[in-house]
Amino acid sequence: MGFLIISKVGAVFLCAFLVGGSVAFGQLSPSFYDETCPLLASIVRGIVARVLFTTDPRIGASLIRLHFHDCFVNGCDGSILLDNTTTIDSEKFAFANNNSARGFEVIDDIKAAVEEACPGVVSCADILTIAATESVYLSGGPCWTVLLGRRDSLTANRSAANEFIPGPNEPLEELRRKFTIQGLNTSDLVSLSGAHTFGRAQCLTFRTRLFNFNQTGAPDPTINTTYLPQLQQLCPENGNASVLANLDPTTPDGFDNNYFSNLQILKGLLKSDQVLFSDEGADTVEFVNKFSANQSSFFESFADSMIKMGNISPLTGSDGEIRANCRRINGDSSTSTETNYGGFVATM
Ligand code: HEM
Ligand SMILES: *[C@@H]1O[C@H](CO)[C@@H](O)[C@H](O)[C@H]1NC(C)=O
Ligand SMILES: *[C@@H]1O[C@H](CO)[C@@H](O)[C@H](O)[C@H]1NC(C)=O
Ligand SMILES: *[C@@H]1O[C@H](CO)[C@@H](O)[C@H](O)[C@H]1NC(C)=O
Ligand SMILES: *[C@@H]1O[C@H](CO)[C@@H](O)[C@H](O)[C@H]1NC(C)=O
Ligand SMILES: *[C@@H]1O[C@H](CO)[C@@H](O)[C@H](O)[C@H]1NC(C)=O
Ligand SMILES: *[C@@H]1O[C@H](CO)[C@@H](O)[C@H](O)[C@H]1NC(C)=O
Ligand SMILES: *[C@@H]1O[C@H](CO)[C@@H](O)[C@H](O)[C@H]1NC(C)=O
Ligand SMILES: *[C@@H]1O[C@H](CO)[C@@H](O)[C@H](O)[C@H]1NC(C)=O
Repeated sequence: MGFLIISKVGAVFLCAFLVGGSVAFGQLSPSFYDETCPLLASIVRGIVARVLFTTDPRIGASLIRLHFHDCFVNGCDGSILLDNTTTIDSEKFAFANNNSARGFEVIDDIKAAVEEACPGVVSCADILTIAATESVYLSGGPCWTVLLGRRDSLTANRSAANEFIPGPNEPLEELRRKFTIQGLNTSDLVSLSGAHTFGRAQCLTFRTRLFNFNQTGAPDPTINTTYLPQLQQLCPENGNASVLANLDPTTPDGFDNNYFSNLQILKGLLKSDQVLFSDEGADTVEFVNKFSANQSSFFESFADSMIKMGNISPLTGSDGEIRANCRRINGDSSTSTETNYGGFVATM
């Protein structure tokens, strides 16, 4: 599998090293669509690359986050993609997603292109998994063999999304608990948090750290004193809660290990990032230090953990369905009650 991509700046990205994923996992398989949709990966890659390099440098981050929020809610089954209707309680309105989850239009574009090439065979859950993987690779990160064969859910569950998706101000033990529920361990928690090496977060997700933190009358002491005033200026106490900050202030759009070196100098944006390094005696610190010291080690662990996350309770065989439209259950003619909030628009 030699993937060749020419970016707008003319650099050549060659997917030469496939890390992790050497063995099939559960019922998923790397060759699932080899006969039925041989061009699948290049179709997905082409559309993600076009959007990423021409209109939206943030889209890769947004797509991998969609995959994560899909997998943590009843498994990687495309449930997050379903719009709100009279019969579907859309996960798009869960706390972590409302005005925040984005990239749905790009998934629609990919689905349309895939349906054109190979009608009725590729699930939305698999499209999301491939899009997440390509997003990492196209942003300078590792590539790995994606396992495929997921099918799409017939349901969505907003309260489950509220229950299982971790929040940015939860303590380390709570983050760990939510990963453990999904079969992910401490090193998975740290490596997957490394996805915060790209993308953005709104002021509302970290502002409690900047001023009267935890009723102490002072900012969070685990923020670097040169970083703190920058964040306070961007996100003043009574300012616009939707303003965006880079999750990785060093290389905002690149997929690399700077997320971890930032944590070592107290430049983690979210509390849930910084606790991985700053919590006294935490067993996450050794992984932060390892990944900061050795990018290859981070890339290998990240690929392994992504495959593990992608294997959370997939629907396979004849369970679920292959949706024709990622936003809708097949044959569902109930009324859409979607309110298209600004946060969902891919070009923002
Ligand atoms: C450890 C628990 C995690 C917490 C508490 C968390 C929380 C958050 C929050 C609050 C945001 C900002 C959302 C906004 O302001 O609209 C965010 C963004 C993001 N998260 Fe996480 N996250 C976690 C783990 C992960 C994982 C496991 C991944 C992927 C493997 C991931 C990928 C991303 C990406 C790429 C963004 C930027 C999205 C964009 O720019 O559109 N996060 N996360
Ligand atoms: C989702 O649809 C239900 C049923 O039509 C409706 O009551 C609810 O207000 C909708 N939710 C949102 C956030 O649009
Ligand atoms: C989602 O966000 C919109 C716009 O801010 C808000 O009006 C709505 O109440 C939120 N929905 C939920 C379910 O929190
Ligand atoms: C949705 O998730 C909640 C919380 O996990 C659970 O209690 C409820 O039974 C689920 N609803 C359905 C219809 O599966
Ligand atoms: C987490 O699980 C992986 C296998 O999935 C294993 O290689 C790794 O050692 C585990 N990490 C910890 C901290 O237990
Ligand atoms: C917040 O303050 C309480 C009470 O002093 C303390 O127990 C808790 O650990 C603090 N939380 C954080 C995140 O610092
Ligand atoms: C708040 O910031 C967001 C993101 O920059 C912007 O789209 C929005 O228009 C701003 N709202 C106000 C009231 O200024
Ligand atoms: C804060 O960041 C600067 C670089 O901007 C670094 O030199 C310094 O060591 C950091 N402080 C701490 C306490 O990590
Ligand atoms: C960095 O990690 C890679 C992958 O785990 C390993 O092969 C290599 O030996 C490590 N390099 C150093 C200098 O430790």
